[in-house]
Amino acid sequence: MTKGRILSGMRPTGKLHIGHLSVLENWVNMQNEYKCFYSIVDWHALTTSFDDTGDIRENCLQMAIDWLSVGIDPEKSVIFIQSAVKEHAELMLLFSMVTPISWLERCPTYKDQVMQLGKEGKDINTYGFLGYPLLQAADILIYRADTVPVGEDQLPHLELTREVARRFNFMYKTDIFPEPQAKLAKVALLPGIDGRKMSKSYNNAIDLGSAGNDLAAQVRMMITDPNRVRKNDPGNPDVCIVNIYHGIYSNATEVLELQEACAKGTVGCVDCKNKLGKSLEQVMEPIKAKRADFEAKPGLVTEILKMGAEKARKEAAMTMELVREVMKL
Ligand code: TRP
Ligand code: SF4
Repeated sequence: MTKGRILSGMRPTGKLHIGHLSVLENWVNMQNEYKCFYSIVDWHALTTSFDDTGDIRENCLQMAIDWLSVGIDPEKSVIFIQSAVKEHAELMLLFSMVTPISWLERCPTYKDQVMQLGKEGKDINTYGFLGYPLLQAADILIYRADTVPVGEDQLPHLELTREVARRFNFMYKTDIFPEPQAKLAKVALLPGIDGRKMSKSYNNAIDLGSAGNDLAAQVRMMITDPNRVRKNDPGNPDVCIVNIYHGIYSNATEVLELQEACAKGTVGCVDCKNKLGKSLEQVMEPIKAKRADFEAKPGLVTEILKMGAEKARKEAAMTMELVREVMKL
């Protein structure tokens, strides 16, 4: 086994948006260098939405379609739904025997979220939510992944994963588990079209595969420099959402020209937005086409997920054999 191993996961929160694209592009790029496992973590979604599970299957399917449409390739990577591989739950249970509660309680994401959601009227003082990072540790370690591409917000969970791996290895005198490292990639932090954090619930997100009129309408609604009233007023691209998107999706020369023209008042926002629309269309059109393809074949997507779960289960079962053996179960 020469290739490094990657596992990463996302909670099935519904259709993905353009803000997720840079993360997914990293996943796509890693497919050749690593043996990759990508999991739709529906059990994790339950930790906060246990009282509202009606959309979960559809959300898993939509997420799988998004992944496939941006180029996650089932021939190269193992794509699967977490709850289809029960071994994750078994490993989490065994980890729960050796993990002090204090490790979970001191996890910075834990108290924050309990408080935050508490304010929104949601009580997540549950055993399942406390165990969230332990389930994540099981997700990763069951494939003995050494590398985990995640955002910075996940670093505490990776730290805990290493602590659990270390403790388990030490306690049962084994070297089954690696101590996986996070792989932080440059991810473009894109605001929503209204300038707030991009989020489905704010209705300010550009869905993956949005194209044509929908896309053009969303670009038209983007917030520009509010001090620019007339077309030839000098503008300040630094405060403009359109400019942020240009910076990521348009070519560098064009971006510089537009910024200069904006500052001099020689380009209007309508033209500037039209140019952005063209750049985004180029990115989104192929995604839209693939999305439509997969949407027309839900049976194919289900089949891909089923095959993925089978491959994942094989790997997970091998790890569990070793785990049971060293624990003398
Ligand atoms: N906690 C991660 C998030 O919210 C999702 C996740 C679950 C995950 N299991 C994982 C990420 C394993 C990486 C590896 O983004
Ligand atoms: Fe923004 Fe472009 Fe208008 Fe300048 S010209 S304010 S960069 S949309």
